[in-house]
Amino acid sequence: MLLPDKDILSPLAPLIRGQWYVAAFHDEVTTAPLGRKICNEPIVLYRRGNGAIAALEDRCSHRRYPLSRGKIAGDLLQCGYHGACFNAEGQCVAIPGQEAIPASLNVRAYPVVERDGVIFVWPGDPAEADPQSLPDWHINAVVDWATVRGVHHMPANYQLVLDNLLDLTHVQFVHQNLGGPGVAESPLEFSVDGDVVNTFRMMRNVELPGIFKALGKTGKFDRWQRQIVRAPSYVYFEAGAEAAGANDPPREPHHVVVQGITPETDTTTHYFWATARHFAIDDAAISATMRAITVDAFDEDVAVLAAQQRSIDRDHTGRPLNAFACDAAGLAVRRILARLITAETVRQRA
Ligand code: FES
Ligand SMILES: [Fe+2]
Repeated sequence: MLLPDKDILSPLAPLIRGQWYVAAFHDEVTTAPLGRKICNEPIVLYRRGNGAIAALEDRCSHRRYPLSRGKIAGDLLQCGYHGACFNAEGQCVAIPGQEAIPASLNVRAYPVVERDGVIFVWPGDPAEADPQSLPDWHINAVVDWATVRGVHHMPANYQLVLDNLLDLTHVQFVHQNLGGPGVAESPLEFSVDGDVVNTFRMMRNVELPGIFKALGKTGKFDRWQRQIVRAPSYVYFEAGAEAAGANDPPREPHHVVVQGITPETDTTTHYFWATARHFAIDDAAISATMRAITVDAFDEDVAVLAAQQRSIDRDHTGRPLNAFACDAAGLAVRRILARLITAETVRQRA
């Protein structure tokens, strides 16, 4: 049954734990433990002696001291308070001055996978963690693409972050430097395939936005944007441009932005991004420009989303949000989220 629009327009979405979420970029995780909260769960990530990644509950079972304040001892994670040691499966295997170690001292271990320069964690039921369903970040790791990347902390519910990414008409109003005419005036085509929403927008005979101009393209172009959105955690975006009037089908994109949306809490979100290009891949100046433009744009989104979340927090009327015509693809994503949330609730009750 299709839910009415008003039923999918709640300001806040419950968290969905049964997903692969980006927990970190590969170089963030070393032999120094890294604490990162995902779906309200404190998790400690660290690299073992053999290079493999481990992800454990970031709370010692003894007195709840954060294990991320501990250190790596051999292949074990040692608590920084009284020295209990845990292996990568979360088993407590050593306690100073004590022989017997009951199983009740074990901590939770999370399924974790490192692929394409990205570390993914599954906060849900480990039995459901299927590596086949990992999001596609391969462009972050292929050698003939150059990538700049970063993490923004979004002080907003993850569904608001997805709304923001699905309605790129905001670019003309929020991102003055990124800007570029044509987005709000051009229709967004989209289709739904299971948990994936595909979008496409063609803008004909328009000036290019700053990220193209900054890289030396000027004049009128036919430009396009394409997105592959796999709710709730993955957004692939590409932008391209050809000389106006050629009427060619879209060719290779000018740049691609792969994004991981990882709920931290109900009202905060880790936003991982990698901006990749296939030209001038050894040009450090172009990398610096792409990084600066991307960081500036996402800083602007942070400011908008923070203000939006604060406004929602202060509104106790329980009213749903509203949708514009341009929100059709965003509503399709919200519909998928509603289905995933319901399915997870049913599974947890079973
Ligand atoms: S709190 Fe970790 S060993 Fe005591
Ligand atoms: Fe934005």
